[in-house]
Amino acid sequence: MTIHKAVIPAAGLGTRFLPATKSTPKEMLPVVDKPAIQYVVEEAVTAGLDDVLLITGRSKRTLADHFDAVPELEAALEAKGDTERLAKVRESTELANVHFVRQGQPRGLGHAVLQAKHHVGQEPFAVLLGDDLIDERDELLTTMLALQERVGGSVIALLEVPPEQISSYGCAAVEALEGEQEDTVRVTGLVEKPPVEEAPSNLAIIGRYVLHPAVFEVLESTAPGRGGEIQLTDALATLMDLPPEQGGGVTGVVFRGRRYDTGDRLDYLKAVVKIAVDRPDLGPDFKAWLTDYAARL
Ligand code: G1P
Repeated sequence: MTIHKAVIPAAGLGTRFLPATKSTPKEMLPVVDKPAIQYVVEEAVTAGLDDVLLITGRSKRTLADHFDAVPELEAALEAKGDTERLAKVRESTELANVHFVRQGQPRGLGHAVLQAKHHVGQEPFAVLLGDDLIDERDELLTTMLALQERVGGSVIALLEVPPEQISSYGCAAVEALEGEQEDTVRVTGLVEKPPVEEAPSNLAIIGRYVLHPAVFEVLESTAPGRGGEIQLTDALATLMDLPPEQGGGVTGVVFRGRRYDTGDRLDYLKAVVKIAVDRPDLGPDFKAWLTDYAARL
């Protein structure tokens, strides 16, 4: 069976970006000229996932509009013969089957994922968090999907971070997995945002998961954890200890590619600059200006 569903939680309040996020969801903030959410949906589609479920909150309208057609704008561009911009408008509409469900109350990432239960059913599925952008040249999700199909259970993405940053992430204890490459590991412990002195490693969970549907039942009985929220990391810690026939086991893929963090303002600025430098249309001019500007700082 091939995995074809992606779940994208997008119900966060985006408080770190106020006032920009007062009336606009943070997922709609532009990274160069595309809203962050579009990069994430494109990544899912590139990995072969054609059914995308966005878990939204009060931000549903703008997100839904972005993946819908805009007949008046399209007609105006068509009349002008502006095929290039017309294609840009249509890109997000034609990407995938995008569905929406609302989270109701913001009770944590685990609670957000649980809202996908009905839509997903009994199939393994991917979860992509919008704060993490993975460079389209790095095939993280494709690798994770293939791994889940081969070994079963759930698969998480891990990134080595400087120890002082681990308390911002879920953290994994791991051991080598026989017969697999060095970057594919067995996860033996999981803790959400540990203080550095309690962290079992410097391997941070980043926002890509391929989950066994058994996660839903586990989430239903997962008590609120760190921050009083229902944590996906806690549910994964339970799954880790379940036998394979009950959908248990968690495998980690250590990612060594390019990841852009758009979660806080400084990282967001860095992400925009890095992505703009790499763009074939804007990169050469922007890079020349940036080099000159940096030299004068
Ligand atoms: C969430 C998860 C955390 C993970 C992180 C990745 O935290 O709870 O385990 O490391 O995403 O971005 P958040 O960033 O939503 O606080």
